[in-house]
Order: sequence, then C-alpha cells, then structure tokens
Amino acid sequence: MFDVMEIRKDFPMLMNQKDGDNPNIYFDNAATTYKPQPVIDAVLSYYTKKSVNIHRGDYDLSYQVSSEYESARKTIAEFINAQPNELVFTSGASASLNLVAYGWGRKHLKPGDVVLSTEAEHASNILPWFKTVEETKAIIEFIPLTKDGKLTIENFKKVMNDKVKVVTIASVTNVLGYIVPIKEIVDIAHGYGAIVVVDGAQSVPHIPTDVKALDIDFLAFSAHKMVGPTGVGALYGKYELLEQTDPFILGGGSNARFDICGNILLKHPPFKFEAGTPAIEAVLGFEAAVKYLNEVGMENIHTYEQSLKTYLVDQLKTMDHIELYNPDTDTGIITFNAKGIFAQDAASYINANHVFVRAGNHCAKILMELLQTSETIRASLYFYNTKAEVDHFINVVRGITLEKCIDLYV
Ligand code: ALA
Repeated sequence: MFDVMEIRKDFPMLMNQKDGDNPNIYFDNAATTYKPQPVIDAVLSYYTKKSVNIHRGDYDLSYQVSSEYESARKTIAEFINAQPNELVFTSGASASLNLVAYGWGRKHLKPGDVVLSTEAEHASNILPWFKTVEETKAIIEFIPLTKDGKLTIENFKKVMNDKVKVVTIASVTNVLGYIVPIKEIVDIAHGYGAIVVVDGAQSVPHIPTDVKALDIDFLAFSAHKMVGPTGVGALYGKYELLEQTDPFILGGGSNARFDICGNILLKHPPFKFEAGTPAIEAVLGFEAAVKYLNEVGMENIHTYEQSLKTYLVDQLKTMDHIELYNPDTDTGIITFNAKGIFAQDAASYINANHVFVRAGNHCAKILMELLQTSETIRASLYFYNTKAEVDHFINVVRGITLEKCIDLYV
C-alpha cells in the first residue's frame, strides 16, 4: 500500500530537518531528487567494503563487483523493458543525448537531411543537434507547438516528410510537464524511415516506461532525477542502432584490440561506449534507486503525483495575481509567475517561506519566447511530497506581493 508518511522515513533529507514549525519543503524535483537510505547505503557499501575497479582485476573482489555492476545494468534495463546489452551507462541524460547526436547523427546525416525537434526542448536535446547539423550540413526544423506549448499529432504530421531522418523530443517537457504522445509519433516517424530519440529525463522517474511497446529507437535518462546518485545515467538504444553508433570517447575497456598502426577493434555495445573507469558506486546506487522505485510501484507514483498536482493546480487557478502557464499539465511540473514580480524575486520570497522551487528559463530558452516571458517559477513534485506541504506552498503563493518581495532586500 502507498503510504507517503512511511516513504518519507526512508529519506534522510526529509527526516534530518531541524525541529521547528517550518521544515523546508522540496518542490524542485525536476532538477534533482532526494535519495532514500538504500541508495545511500549502496554507494557507501562500495566505498567501505568493495572499493576496487571492475572488468580489469584478476582477483575475487573485482570479479564480484564486476558482476554486481552488470547485474545493475540488467535491473535498470528491465525497468524500461530493454535487454542489458541495449543499455549504455553514461554520466546522465545530457551525455546520452550528446552520444546519439555525435555518435549516430554525425555518421548518418547527409546535407539536406532534417532533424525535427520542438521549441520546448531542454538545451541538452537541442545544442548537440545544432552542432551536428552544422557539421553535416543537415537542417534542424521545429514542430510548431500550440499557443500553450503543446505538441499535437496534427502539427507533427504537417512537418513530417521523407527528408526527416531524426525526430528528437522529450517525452515530458521540463518546463510545461506535458506528456507527449510518443507511440503515435514513433509510428508516424518510422513510416517515413526516421528514427526517434526520446529525452526521458522527466518521464522515466514518474511514469512506467516500456521501450519495446513504444518502439523508441533511443531513450536518455538520468539517475539523479529518480532518487539515484548524480553523475550517472543511461542511454537505451536498439541494439542494431547502437552497433551503427560511434563512441565519442575512446579508451581502456572499450576496445578488444589495437595496434601501433592505429587499427582499433572496438568491443560490442554497450561496452564500446564505456571507455575508462566508470562511476561504479553511482551505478550500484542507480540500481538501488530502481529497486526502490519498483518497490513503491511506478503506477502508484504516477497516480499519487497526479492527485497532488491536481490539488495544487486547482488552487493556483483561483488566484488572480498568478499567471499559470500550464493549467492542464499532465505531471507534477507546474510553471507560473506572480504578475508584475520578477520570477527570481518571487522564488526568493517562497524560499524565505521554506519552500524550494526553481526560477529562470530552466535551460529551455527557446520556449520562453513562445511563452512571452524570460523567466518563470517552476514547482515540481515527487512521490514523497505531501498534501500538507502543498497546503503550505499554496498559502505562501497566495500571500506573495511585490512589497513583501522588496522587503526581503531592505
Ligand atoms: N534539467 C534539470 C531541470 O530542468 C536540471 O531543472
């Protein structure tokens, strides 16, 4: 049974707050999440009990940790219904998306080919493609979004054509929180022979993900947004696509053989992409995070977040001084401004009232033009947040005025 108060006991960041009436409330979960004790224990256990390298030691402890590392790959692959050899460990979703753009895009795109994306993308899913199209003389085009920033199948069909070789989109956008209809997009794109790259950084932590059912070609995600450690993430790729992708980092562990003439024989995926000693402790922590999420249940997480989000959005809608940019958000990502108040000043006021939110452009600079604002405040929820925390936040937001924000500085 889903019991948020029991769940909170697993998170030292929630439990170790100073006694008092105003514990800090963490509503910046789209940026990163708190870690439960089993994740912390997995990382600590590596450092205190088995701090050796993997895949290159001829002694028992190295064999044991190598096997635990590969077992983590299996657990994480199963979490998205992939095979272990389709899951590459990277430093996070940004590295995964860069790997696809440089490793696949640079090799396969030709002058005049089109990469199709949206104006709502995070920088990590746009900048590597800007660079790749510059080098390959391909072109980047954008699927027009609706006025409120949504991607519709109707608009997608209007711009899809034979020249499009890559469609690269977030399954949940990091500012507006809409769930994109990935399966329909994949089916249409495949009909034109294009591949679909999905930035799952904001979806994999919150919604059950099945790469086989969705028929996605590549999927990027980060551990730290799903109660895991920072500095580690994954790239899922269909095996034949990973075979066609070049690594953009070479070194120890990724090659089977090389000689003095520069002949290099790379290992098969996923190992050809994992040169150098990996973040072993972080991968073990990543596995602990996935096991933890499985235990809580991804369906439970999604359902619970939906109820918290609906409750919060319904309250914000009643406030005349609040401009809400995504009143029909599909997830726990809620983006707004207090009218006439600079977003970062309002966020500072919210912080002074013990709630952590993010303000700014949220690394989605093109979207801000569409929303006709340079900055917004973003509150983002996760399954360990409570209705009482939302109530406190609602009271704080209800009370925001320009005068109170100015008072913070005098
Ligand atoms: N990508 C993270 C965010 O949207 C950092 O906040």
